[in-house]
Amino acid sequence: MPVEMNAKSTTANTNPSVKKRVFSGIQPSGNLHLGNYLGALRNWVQTQSEYDNIFCIVDLHAITLPVDPKELHNDIRQLAALYIACGLDPQRCKLFVQSHVHEHAEASWVMCCFTPMGWLNRMTQFKTKAGENTESVGTGLYCYPVLMACDILLYQTHYVPVGDDQRQHIELTRDLAQRFNALYGQQVFTIPEAQIRTVGARVMALDDPTNKMSKTDPNPNSRINMLDDAQTIKRKIARAATDSMRLVTFDATRPGITNLLTIYQALTGQSQETIEEEFAGKGYGEFKAALTDHLVATLAPIQKRYHELMDDQRVLEGILKQGAEQARPIAAATLQHVKEVIGLG
Ligand code: TYM
Repeated sequence: MPVEMNAKSTTANTNPSVKKRVFSGIQPSGNLHLGNYLGALRNWVQTQSEYDNIFCIVDLHAITLPVDPKELHNDIRQLAALYIACGLDPQRCKLFVQSHVHEHAEASWVMCCFTPMGWLNRMTQFKTKAGENTESVGTGLYCYPVLMACDILLYQTHYVPVGDDQRQHIELTRDLAQRFNALYGQQVFTIPEAQIRTVGARVMALDDPTNKMSKTDPNPNSRINMLDDAQTIKRKIARAATDSMRLVTFDATRPGITNLLTIYQALTGQSQETIEEEFAGKGYGEFKAALTDHLVATLAPIQKRYHELMDDQRVLEGILKQGAEQARPIAAATLQHVKEVIGLG
């Protein structure tokens, strides 16, 4: 069962020796957007003092679809800078690039051998991403959830803070871990739980609020990117789909305004009732202006810090090197245990 969290829920444990471990990651595939921020990154920042944190830039996942090498190289650095600019503290979190810890790829092969095809056939994200091309896409896309499971299991993770779209992948991770433990009669892997917020876990596209906001949507107006400037944000929010009712209320039958209100709620931390009262009798124009102000106020300081970090690549490289050095022994210990129980070596 995923742990459902609201913005204020804290089961704080300040004793470092008994802190629970958190692991999560984002693909470096360009255009980190508001959905990634509200569904994942911001939540990692908010709870980083409660947990023993490991956050990864999952570049091996990014090559499951064709990618330009130069772009990938830059996207890895940009994502690292954004992790820190959004507030992750390298003193409190291990921040590293997945391909820098080779145990992920090795564990993934082993785990592929233990993953029934039927389980992967059920993965909805594969079906969405492969679309019509199931015969021509790389097998990496098909095995993607196994690599993700290994990311999590290598670190004996307790909680995986993610957006709603990753639910099925975490369920698969739990199933794989439970099956492996049962097969060998040992607690080789900790069974992780998804940590999914009640607000902001599924930010929808601005142009079509029946689809989720996504990095790969061909329409750039469908998303707010973390590096969009104030004018761009204003324009995109002004264009965002609403309806003809002109009622600023949360209403599942009106997904456009409800999506914008949910973004407002996630940014301000206010209750639905307070927000509806604030905009009672006011039109969509006034609400959209207020939402734009909150977005700009949230993103401007992140962007400033991002540009400072990108100006000094040596600092970034140092943080990523240190993160990989800290992460590797944990991953190596789990992989060694896996190899021993299955008789490798
Ligand atoms: P990725 O890179 O697609 O997304 C990164 C995080 O952002 C969340 N997210 C959203 N949340 C709310 N609304 C949206 N519209 C939205 N779009 C994306 C995602 O849920 C995710 O938390 N498979 C993962 C990466 C991964 C991973 C892992 C995550 C690889 N290994 C291990 C956790 C643990 C992915 O594709 O995320």
